[in-house]
Amino acid sequence: MHILVTGGAGFIGSHLCEKLIENKHRVIAVDNLSTGNYQNIEHLVKHKDFTFVFDTIENEAVLDRIISDVDYVFHLAAAVGVDLIVRDPVNVIRSNVLGTEVILKTANRYRKKTIIASTSEVYGKSEKIPFREDDDSILGPTTKNRWSYACSKLIDEFSALAYHHKYNLPVVIVRFFNTVGPRQTGRYGMVIPRMINQALMKKPLTVFGTGKQKRCFCHVSDTIGALIKLTQTEAAIGNIYNIGSTEEITIEDLAHKIKRLTHSNSELKYISYDEAYETGFEDIMRRIPSIDRIHQLIGFKPKINLDNTIQDMISYEKMKIAQQSE
Ligand SMILES: NC(=O)c1ccc[n+]([C@@H]2O[C@H](COP(=O)([O-])OP(=O)(O)OC[C@H]3O[C@@H](n4cnc5c(N)ncnc54)[C@H](O)[C@@H]3O)[C@@H](O)[C@H]2O)c1
Repeated sequence: MHILVTGGAGFIGSHLCEKLIENKHRVIAVDNLSTGNYQNIEHLVKHKDFTFVFDTIENEAVLDRIISDVDYVFHLAAAVGVDLIVRDPVNVIRSNVLGTEVILKTANRYRKKTIIASTSEVYGKSEKIPFREDDDSILGPTTKNRWSYACSKLIDEFSALAYHHKYNLPVVIVRFFNTVGPRQTGRYGMVIPRMINQALMKKPLTVFGTGKQKRCFCHVSDTIGALIKLTQTEAAIGNIYNIGSTEEITIEDLAHKIKRLTHSNSELKYISYDEAYETGFEDIMRRIPSIDRIHQLIGFKPKINLDNTIQDMISYEKMKIAQQSE
């Protein structure tokens, strides 16, 4: 198949492009390199089945030409990362809402199957454990920038479902829960790459808030496996699926684990949310996906545990540090 991956130079997108090429598909990636990195796809650019287009998904003329020619669209491009969301909500809302509208409108024009990347953030501050796909979204006020990301992704979901119901556009929505792995950058607030980097550079590991908040981290290769299986499953169309791990850990314990796995003597440095992000920043204490729905459909169950995931990321960060010092 010929497949478009928007956000293909990003963390998840670059792994997806790689896997699709390995599976003998032709891939075209569109990315404006805002949070993505050309180095993520540099090794693919020479491949005959890979094309990179440096552009924004808001460029309708370019997207029209590309989508008319592909069989499938993976829409992953988005403004991502708590840091970016809090500091530049205008860009987040514009990219995520207008960009997705361009993708859906164009996919609908040519009747192309489309997967839309959403997020566990859409459950907001719900305290229900675990989060199921039909649960309520409980968001904070519009004066708190962090909720703009969840809202923009909810609009994407509403739009995708609206195109599906009104025009029968074949769409699948996936809600990622903390997907991690090599190539993820710590620059925009992602906790594991940031802490690994701090440990390797012999700096204190920064823990935001009390560190008692819990998260589940899923290795990107498990996520990609699920994404690809969903595209091969007709029954997925018109539905929403959580994708993530159910192995829970507090951020404080995560810091200790990273210290142990990097053999680091660094201290933990606690930083308030106000200092780290914005005044009155609201965080979520627990966030566990129910993966029953996707398990029933395609048998999804993450294979790589957290220790192995972190080891994999440590090797990558060490390689990057070595390259930088060459
Ligand atoms: N990694 C996670 O834990 C996670 C969790 C929930 C949701 N998601 C979603 O998964 C998708 C991929 O995220 P990621 O973690 O790989 O982050 P990422 O930042 O590495 O990937 C996003 C990519 O989109 C590109 N991009 C942004 N705006 C664009 C635009 N207007 N035009 C073209 N390209 C643009 C960026 O340059 C980047 O390469 C996003 O939609 C994100 O919301 C990720």
